[in-house]
Amino acid sequence: MKVLIINGSPRKDGNTERLIREAVGVFEREGIACDLYSLAGKAIRGCMACGYCHSHDGCVLADDVNDLAKKLAECDGLLVASPVYYGSANGSLIALLDRLFYSARCDKRMKVGAAFAVARRAGTTATFDELNKYFTISQMPVASGRYWNNGFGREKGQIEEDAEGLQNARITARNMVFLMRSIALGKETYGLPETEEITPTHFIR
Ligand SMILES: Cc1cc2nc3c(=O)[nH]c(=O)nc-3n(C[C@H](O)[C@H](O)[C@H](O)COP(=O)(O)O)c2cc1C
Repeated sequence: MKVLIINGSPRKDGNTERLIREAVGVFEREGIACDLYSLAGKAIRGCMACGYCHSHDGCVLADDVNDLAKKLAECDGLLVASPVYYGSANGSLIALLDRLFYSARCDKRMKVGAAFAVARRAGTTATFDELNKYFTISQMPVASGRYWNNGFGREKGQIEEDAEGLQNARITARNMVFLMRSIALGKETYGLPETEEITPTHFIR
């Protein structure tokens, strides 16, 4: 059983990374493998709407997105964490997620999603909602915590003082493990739910 973790902070050893470590501790104790990807030092550009992925398996741009798509196909759960920038997720992370979710052909159904947002003071709930939208358009159940998964701190390491935020990360990680295991059992017993070809209506009438 494996979790793919995407750290959307460009700051190495930052507060987002610290919050992720709290979840990783839970995953390791539970024997869940972690595949960690960090945006630190990465230049990821946004979707060009070129349509390449409509007729090919993957994105036309040669960066980490196609590699992450393979990892997404293999994982049972996806944890995405972001620092809050101007009340929203880091722009590079959104560029990556737009392209990953749009171009990855793999079946994402019933992979468990979870999102963390980290800020100095405000914007965590909007960022949390923003990140969860990638899961909820992909038939991915969302693991939640005891609050809207946030953590607070400005300078590196300040999140250490946010005991509730760290605790909530552990709780969310445990809930994620429970859901991943339950879904694995459910898949064995019942298989994945029947699905339908999409009927797209573009509201252009
Ligand atoms: C460009 C930029 C914009 C930011 N905007 C916000 C914001 O809207 N709200 C907030 O509370 N903190 C904001 N912050 C502070 C970061 O969210 C905070 O320092 C966080 O701990 C960074 O996480 P990291 O250490 O993982 O990089 C901003 C920081 C930067 C660099």
